[in-house]
Amino acid sequence: MTNKLIPLRIAGVGYSLPETVITNDDLTQLYETSDEWIYSRTGIKERRVVSGEENAIDLGFEASKNAIEKAGIDPEDIDLILAASSAPPDLYPAIACHIHERLGIKKPVPAFDITAACSGLIYGLSIARAYIASGMYKNILIVATDNNSRLVDWTDRGTSILFGDGAGAMVVTQAEDGIDDIIAIDIKADGNYGHLIELAFDGKNCPLVEQYEPKPTGIRMNGRGVYTFVAKVLPQYVEELVSNAGMKAEEIDYLIPHQANLRIIQAVQERLGYSDDKVVTNIKYYGNTSAASIPIALAEGVEKGNVKLGSTAVLCGFGAGMTWGGAIVRLREGIC
Ligand code: UT7
Repeated sequence: MTNKLIPLRIAGVGYSLPETVITNDDLTQLYETSDEWIYSRTGIKERRVVSGEENAIDLGFEASKNAIEKAGIDPEDIDLILAASSAPPDLYPAIACHIHERLGIKKPVPAFDITAACSGLIYGLSIARAYIASGMYKNILIVATDNNSRLVDWTDRGTSILFGDGAGAMVVTQAEDGIDDIIAIDIKADGNYGHLIELAFDGKNCPLVEQYEPKPTGIRMNGRGVYTFVAKVLPQYVEELVSNAGMKAEEIDYLIPHQANLRIIQAVQERLGYSDDKVVTNIKYYGNTSAASIPIALAEGVEKGNVKLGSTAVLCGFGAGMTWGGAIVRLREGIC
C-alpha cells in the first residue's frame, strides 16, 4: 500500500484594512520625529489603524469573507479554521473561534490560533499543508489578523512608527488536478532571540503569595537587534529555499515578503538579484501589519496590476520568537 500525499490548491486570497490613516506627520503630535526620519529608515509614510470598537476580529472576518468568495466555496464547507494573530483583541475565545461564529458556520469545526507573530501566515500554510496532504481536512481557512495599534506603546517612537493594522486570509483546498500550489515550504524559530521583540501579558499572582515585578506594557522591541538578526539570516535563507527546491531565482516571478522594513526587503531582493518589478512592496502605505502583510501585499498587488496571476512567487516572513519561514507557491488565475 502506498501513502500518497494529497496536493494543495490555493483557492482564494482576501484582505481587509481599517479606513483610518495615520501619517508620519500625524505622529509628530505624539513625539519628536519627522517624516524624513521614518521614511528614510523604514520606507513607511503612513499606516492604517482601528478606531473605536473596530478590531482585528472585524478585519479578519472581512478578509475571510473575501477569500471564501474568491475560492467559490460555502463557509459551511470549511472544515478547519487557523488564525494567525499576535496582537489580538482577546486572548480567548481564540480569533479562529470568533471567525467561525462571524461567518455563521453552523457545524462545529476545529478552530485555533497560532502565535508565530509576523511569520504566522507561513506557519499557518505549513500546518494547513500537512492536514491537506494527510487527507484529514479538505477546505481550510487561514486568517492572519492583528490590531497592533492597540498594543504598541505610543510613547515609544522607536517601535510605534512601524506598525499598522490589517488582515489577510487564504482558503486552501485539496487540488483535484494533482498540481500542488506549494512547491516548497519551510518554517523556523530560534527562541534564543526571543528577547528582541516581546509583548508581555501580565496578571497578578494569587494574593496569598509573593507578587512579581510586572513587565512594561506594550510591544517592546530592540529595533537594531531585530534588523541585524534578520538582515543576517533572511537573504541566505530565502536563497537556499529556492535552491533546495531545485529552482533558480530567475524561475520565480515575484518576491512577496513580510513588510517590516524596506531596507530588509531590499537585502533579500539584492541576494536574489531581482529587479524592482519582481518585488511586491506596500509598506509605504500600511507599515508592518504582522502576519497579514504577505496576503495583503499579494491580493493588493493583483488588484493594482503589479502581480500577474498564473505565476510563481516566493513568500517570506519573520517576526517575534524569533520565527521565520518561506514558501514557493503557484498563484493560479482567479485566486484574488
Ligand atoms: O516584524 C518585525 C518588526 N521589526 C522590525 O523589522 C524592526 C527592524 N528595525 C528597524 O526597522 C530599525 O531598527 C528602526 C527603524 C526601528 C530604528 O532605526 P535605527 O536606525 O536602528 O535607529 P536606532 O533605534 O538605533 O536609533 C537611532 C537614534 C536614537 O537616537 P540617539 O540615541 O542616537 O540619540 C533614537 O532615539 O534615532 C532615535 N530615534 C528616532 N528619532 C526620530 C528612534 N526612533 C526615532 C523616531 N524619530 N521615530
